[in-house]
Amino acid sequence: MTPAVPLSILSVASEAFPLVKTGGLADVVGALPAAVEPHGIAMTVMLPGYPAVLGRIGPVRTVHRWPDLLGAEARLLATQVDGFALLVLDVPELFGRPGTPYADADGAEWSDNGLRFAALGLAAAQVAMGSVPGLSFDVLHAHDWQAAMAAAYLRYLAPDRRVGSIVTIHNIAFQGRFDADLFGSLGLPAEAWSIDGVEYYGGVGFLKAGLLAADAITTVSPSYADEIRTPAFGMGLEGLIGGRRDRLSGIVNGIDPVVWSPVSDPDLPQRYSADTLDLRAANKRALEEEFGLERGDGPIFIVVSRLAWQKGMDLLIDCLDQIVALGGRLAILGSGDADLERGFIDAADRHPGRITVRIGYDEPRSHLMQGGGDAILVPSRFEPCGLTQLYGLAYGCVPVVARTGGLADTIIDANEAALAAGVATGLHYDPAAVDGLDRAIRRAIDLFAQPDVWRTMQRAGMGADFTWAESGRRYARLYRDLVRHRVSEGTA
Ligand code: ADP
Ligand code: GLC
Repeated sequence: MTPAVPLSILSVASEAFPLVKTGGLADVVGALPAAVEPHGIAMTVMLPGYPAVLGRIGPVRTVHRWPDLLGAEARLLATQVDGFALLVLDVPELFGRPGTPYADADGAEWSDNGLRFAALGLAAAQVAMGSVPGLSFDVLHAHDWQAAMAAAYLRYLAPDRRVGSIVTIHNIAFQGRFDADLFGSLGLPAEAWSIDGVEYYGGVGFLKAGLLAADAITTVSPSYADEIRTPAFGMGLEGLIGGRRDRLSGIVNGIDPVVWSPVSDPDLPQRYSADTLDLRAANKRALEEEFGLERGDGPIFIVVSRLAWQKGMDLLIDCLDQIVALGGRLAILGSGDADLERGFIDAADRHPGRITVRIGYDEPRSHLMQGGGDAILVPSRFEPCGLTQLYGLAYGCVPVVARTGGLADTIIDANEAALAAGVATGLHYDPAAVDGLDRAIRRAIDLFAQPDVWRTMQRAGMGADFTWAESGRRYARLYRDLVRHRVSEGTA
């Protein structure tokens, strides 16, 4: 076999682990370079220069300056992190603020998010189309609405380009919609203001514009790729997605084995493998201690999640008394909607020692929970892929999940046949409603009381292939197809 020609890909996003993370997007963007590298793909990640990013990177080179990037002075910095090449778009006026990438410290979204992420998109498109000396790429890969405009800018600013474009949908519920008056600030030709361009229900739609412009669209699981073509999941974009279904594919996320392995995890008091599962007991004790839970032999359920409607957290709140009545305990780590936070805190007050909630974001603690908890609850109403159930699999923390999107694609339900064959890795329920969740929790508690069965499930999960191997190969194939297609179009 002749070795494939190396390709270089510009992966553009608003977050990437370990520099800045609010959710699974960061994990995926941070893990992709290593996932595709074995297939001859050199990936450079491009991020906005938030203070968190600038503070975490080492020596940088300034590779470009824009005196006026949509009205702001900007610099492009190049460096290397954790083995991947990184470009940072430093625009102090747009990104030099405290808070999260999207909101201030009180959770209020920045009012100029449209301009901020348009600037990211424009700069990325210029880099990808070769306007920045010394940088050249074969494919631009934009993640979610915050980067999607990069594909739209490429479409309008470099229609005859050779560089291909992909937009990956990590969550179609977030679409980047802004008022029509933003259009005048985007630096796009007038023709872009059309239903075939960036106009969306009378305003500007970033994700919509990117999805129309991209040469290929991916989302993060095959089931979600099917779901977003329906009104129930497409959030208004189902028509557009359906019209471009020949360009759409679902590629399930993997997990980064360097960050998530119970054999080497520095955040676990006790490391272990599928062959030494008994050692896990020490982590369970540490988890009880850390969360102030009563000691006991019954199962500890865990939740590590944004506390949001998407995640079905309101459904879970209705099941909490039941978990306790059946002898279970629960450790929750998350933050989000004030009502949901309050619901969990109330339940914890009602059940001291049995339910504990920690409001906040705490990466090391999330590792201890996966390494010491018995089962992870993921009762999402929709879930494009979901990563916490994959971490649960890797750590022998059995996932109990709603049968939707990536949850359905990654967990094998403990039905009779799967149990008999020893291939079950978790529990499914359907539809996402209190009844089903309640029944799944009961089933989990029953199965936990059968140690041999439970152990077989843990081992099956730990042995499942949730690495990036296959998905890295699929992305690499997609990049190559795009390049081939663009070249043949250009020479046709
Ligand atoms: P989403 O991106 O929709 O929030 P995912 O399951 O894909 O859901 O990814 C969530 C990521 O964020 C996982 O890495 C999970 O461990 C992490 N996470 C979520 N909430 C917290 C928290 N409160 N503390 C630490 N990590 C968290
Ligand atoms: C989004 C989705 C989640 C997915 C993550 C990474 O945040 O909500 O399901 O795992 O992106 O792709």
